[in-house]
Amino acid sequence: MLYATPASEQDARTRLQRAIAGSELPCYVYSYPSKRAYRPVQPARTLAEVWAGARDRLNLYVHVPFCGYRCSFCTLFLTTSHSPQMVDDYVAALQRQVAMYGALLGHLEVVSLYVGGGTPTTLSPDQFSTVFEALHRAFPRFSPTAEVAVEGSPDTMTAERLERLKALGVNRISMGLQTLDEEERKRAGRPYSTQTLYQAVETIQRVGFANVNYDLIYGLEGQQRETWLHSLSTTVGFGPRTVTLYPVVFRPLTVIDKRREKHAGGFMDDGSKYALYDESVAWLAERGFRQNSFVRFSTLEHDGLQQEVADFAGVPLLGLGAGARSYADTVHYGTDFAVRRPETLDIIRGFISHEHRPDEPLGLGFVLDEDEQKRRFCILNLSLGRLEPGAYAQRFRGAGLDDFAEELDALILEGCVTVDREGSYALTPLGFKFSNVIATLFKSPTVDALERDFLPT
Ligand SMILES: C[S@@+](CC[C@H](N)C(=O)[O-])C[C@H]1O[C@@H](n2cnc3c(N)ncnc32)[C@H](O)[C@@H]1O
Ligand code: SF4
Repeated sequence: MLYATPASEQDARTRLQRAIAGSELPCYVYSYPSKRAYRPVQPARTLAEVWAGARDRLNLYVHVPFCGYRCSFCTLFLTTSHSPQMVDDYVAALQRQVAMYGALLGHLEVVSLYVGGGTPTTLSPDQFSTVFEALHRAFPRFSPTAEVAVEGSPDTMTAERLERLKALGVNRISMGLQTLDEEERKRAGRPYSTQTLYQAVETIQRVGFANVNYDLIYGLEGQQRETWLHSLSTTVGFGPRTVTLYPVVFRPLTVIDKRREKHAGGFMDDGSKYALYDESVAWLAERGFRQNSFVRFSTLEHDGLQQEVADFAGVPLLGLGAGARSYADTVHYGTDFAVRRPETLDIIRGFISHEHRPDEPLGLGFVLDEDEQKRRFCILNLSLGRLEPGAYAQRFRGAGLDDFAEELDALILEGCVTVDREGSYALTPLGFKFSNVIATLFKSPTVDALERDFLPT
């Protein structure tokens, strides 16, 4: 007997088929909902109320919004117009904010700390010591296996900084290389020399960290298959345990977006980017790199970014600093953010002069009801390659994955996931490749509408 395919399953399948056939490459997914869906939280809630139920474990993220230059593609929250005084004041404000949160959450076990940016390595060794001391004072229960990660750029990786970071317990260093081609690098707005880049790599190797990650970008202006493969093979030759390969994202207000409007011919299309992705995945697999997500590959036994694993499994994340986001159990929130210079400086100055009190109301955020929490769980776990019904049931008081039967059936029918003996959904290579498309199937209409209405500043 033939059964008719339910309409919504057909919808999910049709959307998936269309996206795969059209080589659609939506934005890389690393959170849900994205910050573009954040709005003033109503009714107002205080920080203390939002975190009242926190037990057990915690991820920490510290944002350092300073860079020596803004790269052509970058809309991360940062300024290049900071003075030494502003950085000092920022570190002092971080200390106050950390102490305030320590009073609320200092009983939790910290399972990861990620210092990101911007370019955190614009901080001096002593400023890093100040920040780490404040964190350890406020959060005395650091897990002995905690991942402690710091990001930086090649022109700021001095031996003095790296040695201090190592002494402070940092075990993961991440550096943006983006491209090893000099012309591509210049066009991307990164003004350091190839020699500086090699020196940074050498210093990182000499100081020695358990996990070194390098970021590369494909799809930059003028980039060719050959220059990309050169960047990739040279980078892997440096011996990192993890590499992160981003397809370039064109966002409003960026130099690269304007360049593409004028010189579309200088950029590869999404199909060509997917071709480079395929070639890179196969090349890395031959060299012992396991795929952790669409962008991340590692030779470590575990995933090359433990904070993401813990976050996606439901461990809350406390974001510190201007531009950082926090993911409490049911509420995500953060400061305002911007790309333009005056708005960005206003937000950083606001953070510096802020009193940081537990009874202050949240600014921008998003309250996740149970449906949104379930969507988040599916999107983020699938992005790391595996959705386990047992973990889902544990998280949602015995619930099954039936709410997403149509989406999951569509993924099976289109060869994006397989179901293993334990009943877990595991991404196939095709599923990894289209994991950003898969995420869109699980997004709620509410989040979709909020993200569409967002206007960048
Ligand atoms: C905070 S930065 C890394 C550290 C340091 N600021 C640097 O650039 O060397 C984060 C990474 O996100 C990636 N990234 C940022 N904007 C991007 C975009 N529009 N498209 C693709 N990747 C992007 C880059 O690879 C960058 O290394
Ligand atoms: S890619 Fe890194 S260095 Fe460049 S602007 Fe963004 S955060 Fe700063």
